[in-house]
Amino acid sequence: MNSTRSARVATFIDKGGTGKTTTAAHLGVALSRQGNDVLMIDLAGKQGDLSKHFGVWETVERWIAEDDDWPNISTVFQDEWDIIVDKLGDSAVDDLIVETEEGPDLVPAHPGLDSLDAELGNIDNPDERYSRLDGFLDEYIEPLGYDVVLVDLPGITNNVTYNGLWATRSVIAPAEMGVFEASQLQALEKDLHRMEDNFDVEVELAMVVPNKVDRRTKLADEYLEKYESAYPERVGEPVPVSQDIRNAADSGHTVFAFEEPSSTAERAIRSYEANAEQLNTKLQPNPRFKAEAASDD
Ligand SMILES: Nc1ncnc2c1ncn2[C@@H]1O[C@H](COP(=O)(O)OP(=O)(O)OP(=O)(O)O)[C@@H](O)[C@H]1O
Ligand SMILES: [Mg+2]
Repeated sequence: MNSTRSARVATFIDKGGTGKTTTAAHLGVALSRQGNDVLMIDLAGKQGDLSKHFGVWETVERWIAEDDDWPNISTVFQDEWDIIVDKLGDSAVDDLIVETEEGPDLVPAHPGLDSLDAELGNIDNPDERYSRLDGFLDEYIEPLGYDVVLVDLPGITNNVTYNGLWATRSVIAPAEMGVFEASQLQALEKDLHRMEDNFDVEVELAMVVPNKVDRRTKLADEYLEKYESAYPERVGEPVPVSQDIRNAADSGHTVFAFEEPSSTAERAIRSYEANAEQLNTKLQPNPRFKAEAASDD
């Protein structure tokens, strides 16, 4: 795929529980099954939802309990990171990354992310405060040659979230069907414009993924139509509400890993596959690097 730079995208909307983590996990697996090398980064906090999706959270918790949790994702934001790399060499980055059984690699969340928001708040210069993750990805992750870096963000706008947006410049917003969700999407667009105005950083809303959709209800159709007209070309295939999505997460995998998926799980799989394909055409080449690549020639 993209030979010079990885495509980057974050799952985000300023609302809890709409399916950010579920979407990240399933799109990560779908992109990987379509032949991409995928790295997922969990910035969504200490409960390790993304790691739970891939059955690796227990391992991470054991590392934490055994004091074997250093370095970790929160460390890369800190001033000491360069010193850590000097000391540990390549293994500093290798230590952050866990392989999953479903294809993507994963940088798990860590409890240190919780205090990180306040720590970042102490940095006066916004360029410095918000670009930490970007700098880390450029210097340490790009050389690893991933096709796609997928960042799962928390459902709140804080300094960690801004780092995720700054680094990826591209957002997938999972939205449920309802008034509140629709206004949340508008708030998201405002947020992204604000970043552009204040910091000259252009963050694109790459895809709205209608989630937990029950096509039998009128409400679903109504909102799907609304989303289509508000975000033309950017609304993904709706993902059905499926108990199997919950069950899969509870058993530490995605719906792709079911040997005999139910019919709703199968529909979910097809939606995620279609969305991954759509994303693939959108995300490459990474618009942010087009100019750079051209000037390299
Ligand atoms: N399509 C779906 N069908 C059924 N359940 C779903 C679906 N998508 C997500 N869920 C469930 O909804 C809950 C919230 O999903 P998820 O954790 O992905 O949301 P989130 O936006 O990441 O939440 P948070 O803001 O807490 O990070 C989970 O229990 C998840 O299993
Ligand atoms: Mg989440």
